[in-house]
Amino acid sequence: MVELLPSILSADFAHLADEVKAAERGGGTVIHFDVMDGHFVPNLTIGPPVLESLRKVTRLPIDCHMMVENPDDFVEAFAEGGADWMSVHYEVCRNLHRTLQNIKHHGMEPAVVINPATAVDLLIPVLDMVHHVLVMSVNPGFGGQSFIPYSLVKIRRLKELREELGLNYRIEVDGGVAHDTIGQVVEAGADLLVAGSAVFSHGRAEQNARELLQAAQVAAAASA
Ligand code: DX5
Ligand code: ZN
Repeated sequence: MVELLPSILSADFAHLADEVKAAERGGGTVIHFDVMDGHFVPNLTIGPPVLESLRKVTRLPIDCHMMVENPDDFVEAFAEGGADWMSVHYEVCRNLHRTLQNIKHHGMEPAVVINPATAVDLLIPVLDMVHHVLVMSVNPGFGGQSFIPYSLVKIRRLKELREELGLNYRIEVDGGVAHDTIGQVVEAGADLLVAGSAVFSHGRAEQNARELLQAAQVAAAASA
């Protein structure tokens, strides 16, 4: 089943509860929460205080995408703040296996993320531990960038590996997912679709989300 994950990075933070509720009415089923530290990526965003506030206004699962150098330091705080899923970047985890175990131990669904220049096959040793793999289809740090087409090759490879290895992780894609790209990512095999600017632009989150999800469902039905 394809699911739409509105990324609040592009929401109006002064009206976050309303924005999230609108995206939820439009069919968003998981909230994507981008955490940036100004080191791993050249931008700063939000952390546990915002997570705690958000937790009070939505029942949807919250998917924390950790774009930080030292995700291990934050596992406990995010678990306590109400995170449901946590994804950590392959590029920063020296002990990825241990980090994923620790996330699970704290009651969250563990996931691994790869940047555009990181190969999927590096993840083979941990694929049986993850709830999902997140393929970055832009270089992380900012909303509103253009989709990198090679990401489709990586999504197809993850789908192939899942079958070969008899696993059931889900495949998430993040970056440049919009009306013109969502069909291709679904056809390639992604089923967790993160969209920031395509959902929250022009203050029409409900309508944008509904249209995007419809396009994704059409593509899913066509490739079934
Ligand atoms: C980018 C973040 C994304 C971002 C995507 O580094 O990880 O989640 O919000 O934004 P769009 O959908 O606008 O490319
Ligand atoms: Zn993200």
